[in-house]
Amino acid sequence: MCIRDRTWLGTATPHEALALRAAGLDGRIMCWLWTPGGPWREAIEADIDVSAGGMWALREIVAAAEAAGRPARVQLKADTGLGRGGCQPADWPELVGAARDAERAGHLRITGLWSHFACADEPGHPSIAAQLAVYRDLVAYAEKEGVEPEVRHLANSPATLTIPEAHFDLVRTGIAMYGISPAPELGTSAELGLRPVMTLAAAVALVKDAPAGHGVSYGHHYTTPADTTLGLIPVGYADGVPRHASGSGPVLVGGKVRTVAGRVAMDQFVVDLQGDRPEAGAEAVLFGPGDRGEPTAQDWAEAAGTIAYEIVTRIGARVPRVYVNETADEVTGGVSR
Ligand SMILES: Cc1ncc(COP(=O)(O)O)c(C=O)c1O
Repeated sequence: MCIRDRTWLGTATPHEALALRAAGLDGRIMCWLWTPGGPWREAIEADIDVSAGGMWALREIVAAAEAAGRPARVQLKADTGLGRGGCQPADWPELVGAARDAERAGHLRITGLWSHFACADEPGHPSIAAQLAVYRDLVAYAEKEGVEPEVRHLANSPATLTIPEAHFDLVRTGIAMYGISPAPELGTSAELGLRPVMTLAAAVALVKDAPAGHGVSYGHHYTTPADTTLGLIPVGYADGVPRHASGSGPVLVGGKVRTVAGRVAMDQFVVDLQGDRPEAGAEAVLFGPGDRGEPTAQDWAEAAGTIAYEIVTRIGARVPRVYVNETADEVTGGVSR
């Protein structure tokens, strides 16, 4: 999340926000996905901006602020049409009124007013203008009631890239931070001025000969059509390689793009190398920016029938993260580097 010269970090869960703070990140952190009984007090004590989209949340925040002996920083969330989290417009006056009362009583400070788009990745979708209008009305109402938000925010990545009037004070970019286009319909990463920063690579674990007619991996959904060589790639669905990409996921091995042969297993999958014999230990690149001819996260999304968001966010915990150039601007996962 960015605001002029200041950077905010936004997290879904409070545990993510608390982990960032514990890791030494100072600056503003906002966290929006709360459940009853959540760690409100810990968040308040860690100087995290919390979010309230309903009266139950506000009540828990006030109690936690009293227990902590300090005011909470609260951002009020409106459901302007997504139909997910946040306060319905009809309930906004009650939420704003109660938050203002709590602010006057010194329990909290209202730091933000925010909402989230439903269809920002579909340019021209009528819900975009409708949500913008509702959001403006709800902000105007709150400001009339005396709310002085530091930040008003509505835009996710597609809105950041294509709807300038939705930028307000801060934008909450997720997939764009990975350098990935939110949707192919909006353009490729390059067309949007983005460059994918994440590479997932593994070391080829084994290369071996196999005769024609040999079944490969669980269920034998692939059978070698001729005498061949098989390469074993030691990452599987437990590492975030989608099982739905069985028989279709692309991998760059030994300078050629190969396809997952048969099923992706929990920890590994196989490629048919068609007689090539890269060394065991050679790099297999599942996805990256594409500069070296490697597939991209979008290619995997298409192979698995999903979106690139799911490919980059599901990399498993046991895949080592390697931050390149000490700027943490590239992450290389896999078992090899
Ligand atoms: C509330 C909220 N804001 C921002 C984002 C980021 O969306 P995007 O990755 O499309 O930028 C998300 C994504 O899950 C979200 O839930």
